[in-house]
Amino acid sequence: MTRVSVISIDLNILGCLSDKLIWTLLDDVARELRIRAFLIRAIQASDRSWIVSFVKSHWGSDIVVGKGRVLRPAELDGFAAFRGKNAVGLLTYRIEDLDCEIVTIDSTSEGEGIGTALIDVVRETAKAKGCRRLWLITTNDNLNALGFYQRRGFRLIALYSNALEASRKLKPQIPMKAANGIPIRDELELELELSE
Ligand SMILES: CC(C)(COP(=O)(O)OP(=O)(O)OC[C@H]1O[C@@H](n2cnc3c(N)ncnc32)[C@H](O)[C@@H]1OP(=O)(O)O)[C@@H](O)C(=O)NCCC(=O)NCCS
Repeated sequence: MTRVSVISIDLNILGCLSDKLIWTLLDDVARELRIRAFLIRAIQASDRSWIVSFVKSHWGSDIVVGKGRVLRPAELDGFAAFRGKNAVGLLTYRIEDLDCEIVTIDSTSEGEGIGTALIDVVRETAKAKGCRRLWLITTNDNLNALGFYQRRGFRLIALYSNALEASRKLKPQIPMKAANGIPIRDELELELELSE
């Protein structure tokens, strides 16, 4: 409660400044106080059109491929993080047989807690829906994501060697090499047991 009132006092004082400047200042205050300067909510039908653009810009297409399946994130449930009116994070998920799969997770302002907050909210949602596990597929090149998930309790449970060969037949836009220079070849499955 005290933390929220610190933010609203700042908003009132800074009310005459532009949105962008206010959020920049709030980011600094939030970082200093180690509190959030963004809001998270479940996505709604009215979010679908910006989600299609968001997914296209982050995933090179409106589809994602994993374990030989084509998935359309804009048609799934999910959570979005907002700073003012701007979406700064998006997580989409699907539940099947009491397993909750994180299909996409993206943060446009890394290192501020957005990714962690999105994981927290989907974990609590999956638990509330009685899911046994939270799982996801990532690729061998994504060292940042591999570290991020494992620091949040996920464990590596499967390696699908050379899976990207089949994935590229379904989604030719998948590059051969990541920006960090690592060839994109294999899929890795990670899971977080929810009974723990
Ligand atoms: C993976 C990803 C979603 C993480 O999102 P993020 O918003 O950077 O996540 P967070 O800010 O919560 O955490 C990142 C780091 O910043 C740190 N951090 C969070 N808030 C912070 C703050 N206020 N001050 C300083 N550091 C902070 C976290 O502790 C974390 O470090 P750790 O993993 O060593 O604990 C993001 O890097 C991303 O969008 N990557 C590209 C897309 C992608 O690869 N998605 C996964 C596909 S499988």
